[in-house]
Amino acid sequence: MKKQTIQPVKSINGGIELPGDKSISHRYGMLAGIAEGTTELRHFSAAADCHSTLLCMQALGAKVKIANDVVRVTGHGPRGLQRPRKALDAGNSGTTIRLLSGILAGQNFSSTISGDGSLQKRPMKRVVTPLRQMGAEIIAREEQFAPLEIHGAKLRAITYEMPMASAQVKSAVLLAGLFAEGLTKVIEPARTRDHTELALAEFGAEIEQHGLTTTVHGLGSNGSKMLTARALDVPGDISSAVFFIAAASLFPESTLLIHNVGLNPTRTAILDLFLSMGADIKTPSLRASHGEVVGDLAVKGAPLKGGIISGDTIPLVIDELPMLAALGPYTEEGIEIRDAAELRVKESDRIAALAENLRRMGAQVEERPDGLRVEGRKAGKLHGAEIEPRGDHRIAMAFAIAGLGAEGKTIIRDADCAGVSFPTFYEELERLSQR
Ligand code: S3P
Repeated sequence: MKKQTIQPVKSINGGIELPGDKSISHRYGMLAGIAEGTTELRHFSAAADCHSTLLCMQALGAKVKIANDVVRVTGHGPRGLQRPRKALDAGNSGTTIRLLSGILAGQNFSSTISGDGSLQKRPMKRVVTPLRQMGAEIIAREEQFAPLEIHGAKLRAITYEMPMASAQVKSAVLLAGLFAEGLTKVIEPARTRDHTELALAEFGAEIEQHGLTTTVHGLGSNGSKMLTARALDVPGDISSAVFFIAAASLFPESTLLIHNVGLNPTRTAILDLFLSMGADIKTPSLRASHGEVVGDLAVKGAPLKGGIISGDTIPLVIDELPMLAALGPYTEEGIEIRDAAELRVKESDRIAALAENLRRMGAQVEERPDGLRVEGRKAGKLHGAEIEPRGDHRIAMAFAIAGLGAEGKTIIRDADCAGVSFPTFYEELERLSQR
């Protein structure tokens, strides 16, 4: 397991292109596998998680060809998947297991899907419950966890009022809805990312959104309606951009240009938060791409005020909270995160991982059941420490950034776990670092 040493820097300067958006890559990869024909996906994510999705689609009978960041997936229509020979492996990827469960529920075969040790500890009942209501028979370990044994069935359309704000649960039900007769509706308690809805429309499914209700039309059991293969560009991942926005913000002399970032309005709440805290971020150009919004981000160093993040903002910035928390000691007022108990069931218990590692660096932290409070600059400067990311890519990357402004060197244990979303993270960080 590789250890990565992070040395303090003076500023972050230059330009960067990020890996393709992880959420969008998963969705395009899955839909391509149930579309008719060959889909070309350009700038597909290099993340290990998205590779897990491609391997699962391949095991289900789709043809997958990978050439650098261009992926070609050949599907045989919504009824064209085949029973996999062995259990599907979602690796570390919650999106793979939860979204794919929706597709597997509608097949005329049985399959098993599981993943690594972390994934086997994460809650799956949230997808099992609605998919059972639609008619699939699903056996979960202790009723909660992977492996999931999914016996596909002829599904019925349902209206599902979600008990939690989760794009993965919404997406699982919508994808299952393709295989149900009639209209499947999902009602969210708060807005979450809408990449599934946009991707479904791109591939030719009928889908409507009114407020917090999304309706998908079943494709029909006679194969009368099809999804069509497409050529699609994946924008850069804003959740990866955030590590570099944070890094550049920390140092007054930074100037950073981040190219081709996905700026879907259900993902940009993090930019609004940074701006409200005083960050200097400009979006000189915006363009539409397959229903998504894409643009460049120009970031300069600026002092950050800090603040409280809570309520309906939480699901919109859920993946960026580790970076925000780790920035807390560099802000004027500190960072407080509330209403975010979901962080405890991500790739690690992120609240505990943040509190532990922030303390190792000398920060003052109060850990709470649904969040944490991290004191700001007045509580003192961070010092380098050995960081234990608990196998969680976003914890590893957040503390690599926190280390840039600390006194002395920071060591990230098991640093390779960053590859789950960003395999070249440390190289890119080093390339942009000025000392
Ligand atoms: C994702 C949704 C979020 C997010 C995850 C990716 C997606 O999870 O944390 O990294 O691609 O739909 P939840 O929907 O469970 O909050």
